[in-house]
Amino acid sequence: MIKTSALSKTFPGGVAAVRGVDLAVEAGEIVGFLGPNGAGKTTTMRMLTTLVRPTGGTATVAGHDLLTDPRGVRRRVGYVSQSGGIDLSNPVGEELELHAMLYGMRPAEARERVAGVLGRFGLTELRDRPGGALSGGQRRRFDLAFGLVHDPVLLFLDEPTTGLDPQSRAALWDHIRGLRDGFGLTVFLTTHYLDEADALADRLFIIDGGVIVAQGTPAELKGGTGTLDDVFLSITGRSLRDDPPGSLGSPGSPDSSGTDGESVTDRSLRDDPPGSPGSPETNGGRRAAHLAGGER
Ligand SMILES: Nc1ncnc2c1ncn2[C@@H]1O[C@H](COP(=O)(O)OP(=O)(O)OP(=O)(O)O)[C@@H](O)[C@H]1O
Ligand SMILES: [Mg+2]
Repeated sequence: MIKTSALSKTFPGGVAAVRGVDLAVEAGEIVGFLGPNGAGKTTTMRMLTTLVRPTGGTATVAGHDLLTDPRGVRRRVGYVSQSGGIDLSNPVGEELELHAMLYGMRPAEARERVAGVLGRFGLTELRDRPGGALSGGQRRRFDLAFGLVHDPVLLFLDEPTTGLDPQSRAALWDHIRGLRDGFGLTVFLTTHYLDEADALADRLFIIDGGVIVAQGTPAELKGGTGTLDDVFLSITGRSLRDDPPGSLGSPGSPDSSGTDGESVTDRSLRDDPPGSPGSPETNGGRRAAHLAGGER
């Protein structure tokens, strides 16, 4: 479903965010993509969803070549970004229908499809409410519905459960498992919660400094002893959440790679600049990229 070879991204200005990543993901897997802040997770996802153009390497995603057929990739994948990226002023149902029609569905087909996903994620009663008026858990379910409305075979989720309470997190895990078990959907997700990775993912990749440093099933990585936290600490030299989003750099984060490490400046260069979930600007940019084939 995903195969990459030496996939790389160096941003203008010289930040080598991803430095030769090889991934192989099978259809119907839930894959967890782990790594400290700034490791290159979002950049990798944005390359795989055609939103960022690789500067090196090749990839096939959902049966289409990333470089020569980005439109083919785009039609078959869904992406829920770290910052959301949905217009939250629109009513939930309308926003979903609009998104479906932007993907080429006729209005009647879009209405039917949207009714289906609203039902699936327990959002039917909320269809007339603006996205901005949803609770955190409802909002994440709306994000999932948004990522799925055009019927992709592969869904990318960037930190889908960050900030949720334990119950809402567990409920979202059930939804994600249901997508794999009920529809054979392949799910590629990032998380900073190692218990989540352990519970949810069939297989894990750990990235650090733009390079894959470990991969395997949660059981393989744990090797029968210890926890994923121990594994992560021993591989990356730090705990996954040393540097929670918004903090000023990770204490003792090594920068042995010679590329940029974590810094306040780095964060200001992040891919979702305005950072505000659902900013219309982000949304418009994403739609434009999806529709117009606008890789950057
Ligand atoms: N548009 C950009 N221009 C320049 N550098 C960028 C850009 N986007 C990301 N970077 C840099 O690339 C590196 C990887 O960032 P990325 O967002 O992929 O990390 P991440 O693993 O998703 O981190 P987090 O866990 O904090 O979300 C960081 O050093 C970041 O500052
Ligand atoms: Mg990220």
